[in-house]
Amino acid sequence: MSTHHEDRIKQLLDLMTPDEKLGQLQQLAWAWDTGPGSGSTEEAGAAARKGLLGSVLNVFGAASTNALQRIAVEESRLGIPLLFGLDVIHGYWTTFPIPLAQAAAFDPAVTETDGEIAAREARSNGVHWTFAPMMDVTHEPRWGRIAESHGEDPYLTSRYAAAKVRGHQGADLAAPDRVAACAKHFAAYGGPEGGRDYNTVDVSEQRLRNLYLPPFKAAVDAGVASVMASFNTISAVPAHANPHTLTRILKEEWRFDGLVVSDWTGVLELVAHGFAEDGAAAARRALGAGVDMEMVSTTFADHGRELLARGALTEARLDDAVARVLRLKLRLGLFERPYVDESAAVTEPTASTRAAARDAAVRCMVLLKNEGHTLPLAAGPRSIAVVGPLADTGDLLGTWTVPDAQQRFPAVTVAEGLRTAVPEAHLVCVPTGGAPGAVEDADARAVAAAASVDFTVVAVGEPPALSGEAAVRSDLELPAGQRELIEAVAATGKPFAVVLFAGRPLVVGDWLDSAPAVLLAWHPGLEAGHALADVLTGAVAPGGKLPVSFPRAVGQIPVHYNHERTGRPYDATQPDEKYVSKYLDLAEGPQFPFGHGLSYTTFTTGDPRLSRTEIPTADLSEGATVEVTVSVRNTGDRAGDEVVQLYVHDLAADIVQPVRRLRGFERVTLGAGESTEVRFLLGAEDFGYWTNDPEGVFVLEPGAIDLYAGADSTARNRCRLTIN
Ligand code: BGC
Repeated sequence: MSTHHEDRIKQLLDLMTPDEKLGQLQQLAWAWDTGPGSGSTEEAGAAARKGLLGSVLNVFGAASTNALQRIAVEESRLGIPLLFGLDVIHGYWTTFPIPLAQAAAFDPAVTETDGEIAAREARSNGVHWTFAPMMDVTHEPRWGRIAESHGEDPYLTSRYAAAKVRGHQGADLAAPDRVAACAKHFAAYGGPEGGRDYNTVDVSEQRLRNLYLPPFKAAVDAGVASVMASFNTISAVPAHANPHTLTRILKEEWRFDGLVVSDWTGVLELVAHGFAEDGAAAARRALGAGVDMEMVSTTFADHGRELLARGALTEARLDDAVARVLRLKLRLGLFERPYVDESAAVTEPTASTRAAARDAAVRCMVLLKNEGHTLPLAAGPRSIAVVGPLADTGDLLGTWTVPDAQQRFPAVTVAEGLRTAVPEAHLVCVPTGGAPGAVEDADARAVAAAASVDFTVVAVGEPPALSGEAAVRSDLELPAGQRELIEAVAATGKPFAVVLFAGRPLVVGDWLDSAPAVLLAWHPGLEAGHALADVLTGAVAPGGKLPVSFPRAVGQIPVHYNHERTGRPYDATQPDEKYVSKYLDLAEGPQFPFGHGLSYTTFTTGDPRLSRTEIPTADLSEGATVEVTVSVRNTGDRAGDEVVQLYVHDLAADIVQPVRRLRGFERVTLGAGESTEVRFLLGAEDFGYWTNDPEGVFVLEPGAIDLYAGADSTARNRCRLTIN
């Protein structure tokens, strides 16, 4: 906290009327008017002029933001600048792969680079604040917002959350190439019952603190400027009116002095939840619980005066909320530099940002299967067919892109990428999937093409519209007709690979046996086709790993590696035992486990070795660490990447522990025959856990901890540490 800023805040608060204070807590939406309760362009301008507006979302472009800012700064009584927010989730002009894909890189530098480039492009266009990173840990592949998440693991998500905050914010929010980040959605939004967006979440305190909260804590520790409340309930109390999470944990326990913003109409939705009888009660509940700024609905502004008058809102709480808004504006340097230089606005991706997006997309790809070295494509002159509904589309950017970017800078298509990468090859492209009659015709042409060429790439999966907010599926198989296409291509007997696009884990078991190779590309962003060509041709070996388990069937959900052990666990050596925790009609475990991913070469990982095999709890509590060393060797004949993963398991504890918890990972590049050693330092944070105590109790108990190292979450290489 800068004393200079705090003095300035105090001076401003002294000058402000109650209406002006409440005005600072209002965020209206620009232009994208979605009905009652949402703001419009004129409304925002009029409110800014009267000094009754704190922030606007969805206004972007240097000229538009400057024009609106001029009203606030030059025409309002106190001249307090507006804060402009926008969802810059995985790129502004330069669209990177979706966040779930980025998590698959097991390399937080990927998201830091995305964050930096996005910040530069967005800030130059007048955007001060992005509603990212999203850090909802989730075990729900039906939930479309899994695409925006970093998957099922709190440690991996925490590392990415901190890296994205660093990328967006840098060391100084006032810099012309940085934006304020927003940790969202607080909290437990990733656990909706049935996977249905916005649905109920009933969660124990231990699960809240061990699974959902760690990424938020990591973001707060990294200095995140703001936090957004989530649409769900948390154990029957809506997150927007939850004093336990917003005030007790976030603002008091973690000493967060930044801004808490509601989600879109999230405050008014307290009425729909049945948690507030009307708008006034909604405002009282949300402000009282710790929401500082209201997005789109206007209950604070409409009822704040009345709440103050009847003592339902204290002056102190109001001033605290306003101070948090003003603090962010001061940190962003908006009082000194409210406008952007319109001539310096970035208006398109550059060669270097495209190269970064391409490199990121390559690092995110996961080779799920590769029988008999089907991939990479053989070198030399040949004929290639690219077929399938996603063979030649630029709609591969993924959910949540900046609308203008989608129109102006669509993705490089698969066919385009291959055509550029192997100009000497004869390339036939047959996009399938149009009107019903045309589908069969196109499929027949696709299969005929596959029969006549040396190699076929079948581009299938989900288009981006099938994932993201409110894009929930109850069926996770490939969209209609795609399985038939794969099987028909397989029946030609010619070599082929499936390139799978998806914003979530899919159920792939029904056609997997027919496909010799499957490369998971997610939604790879702007440079999709070029990145795919890099991997398909073998210019770069794939090295991504799954940040989520792939289920065998929807009925198996949730299936995730970090589950708790039952009293009757399944035992692979006794598959016929009936009274164990399993399905009668489904093989045990996921189709592909968390951490899975192949390369064009092979690796072996050694046993984890400890710097010491015993350590007293007292030493750990004082910050002592144990060093774990793992050797890894490239045993194949070409260079490639491996992600060395380290998992811990506390054998007996006062709260039943997950069978494994990821506590370390490192992606290494090794030439043929090369080996290296990877070192991890583990301390109290890695061995202890949060209890069910609502006061927030983290314990570190004596006992045995098993450590597993390897190439996925089923790794068997093990050693044991005793905490005494
Ligand atoms: C989403 C948020 C987003 C906000 C503003 C909401 O519907 O849940 O993640 O930041 O809209 O666009």
